[in-house]
Amino acid sequence: MSNNIIDGKAIAETINNETAMSVADLARNHSLQPGLAVVLIGENPASQVYVKMKVKKCHELGIYSEKHVLADDASMAEVLELIEKLNNDPAINGILVQSPPPPQIDEETVVAAIRPDKDVDCFHAENVGKMLIGKSDGFFPCTPHGVMVLLERSGVDPCGKHAVIIGRSNIVGKPMMALLVQKAAGANATVTVVHSRTPDIASYTRQGDILIAAIGKPEFVTADMVKDGATVIDVGINRIDDPSAKRGYRLVGDVKFDEVSKKAALITPVPGGVGPMTIAMLLHNAVKACKMQNGRAF
Ligand code: GUN
Repeated sequence: MSNNIIDGKAIAETINNETAMSVADLARNHSLQPGLAVVLIGENPASQVYVKMKVKKCHELGIYSEKHVLADDASMAEVLELIEKLNNDPAINGILVQSPPPPQIDEETVVAAIRPDKDVDCFHAENVGKMLIGKSDGFFPCTPHGVMVLLERSGVDPCGKHAVIIGRSNIVGKPMMALLVQKAAGANATVTVVHSRTPDIASYTRQGDILIAAIGKPEFVTADMVKDGATVIDVGINRIDDPSAKRGYRLVGDVKFDEVSKKAALITPVPGGVGPMTIAMLLHNAVKACKMQNGRAF
């Protein structure tokens, strides 16, 4: 691998090893096993892949997991009934409903029904609020938290740097802003968020010491939009049809990797950058949930 590439797979592996050690310690010293329930509604092919990867990783790390698959036409009542059952199941410490659900499901209502101390995605308003005010007894959302850990473990301290985020989603852009601006070690950045209604996006992105692309537009960020020597984090995972590829498609990020990698001091690849970190932070949260529910300090 070229030496300016941030190896998300390797860093995620380190985090997963740390998680596996915590799991082993909980088993040995406290007779506890963290449990994660993953709920998939419908047949979104990308979601099916993500859910499979999450369950597989649980197994590898010694975390108990349950996969609940509901039909594409499942009703709100069915979903809420399942959430209620999982909320009350002592074997389950974390609950995750894979996003996006089919259109008849109101995601906000579903997320609000998850017990906040089991909300390992940090989508519940209570946990989003705790994150915003810098409290550590909730959770951090998996993808933005994964980005923070990637920066830290790559030796990039955001303190005093200008971080520019492209995208304002509830899953990535907004929580990314909150984590980077936090008055805390490993954060303290000056943050700008640009989005679809921002005129002349490049005039902002060119100022970013740290540039985070999270808009879901394939290869949106080109070299002329990037500051020399920037750290570029690509959160995008886009499927591009490609009949010559093994599965008929290939994955590209929101960054035009070949040209931007020549200008950036550090850059994450797609795949193998942020993606593996999202799962690693989810499992980290599942262990945290287990510890908190059993009255142990994290
Ligand atoms: N869909 C895309 N990213 C995520 C995530 O982090 N959690 C869930 N539940 N769904 C997602």
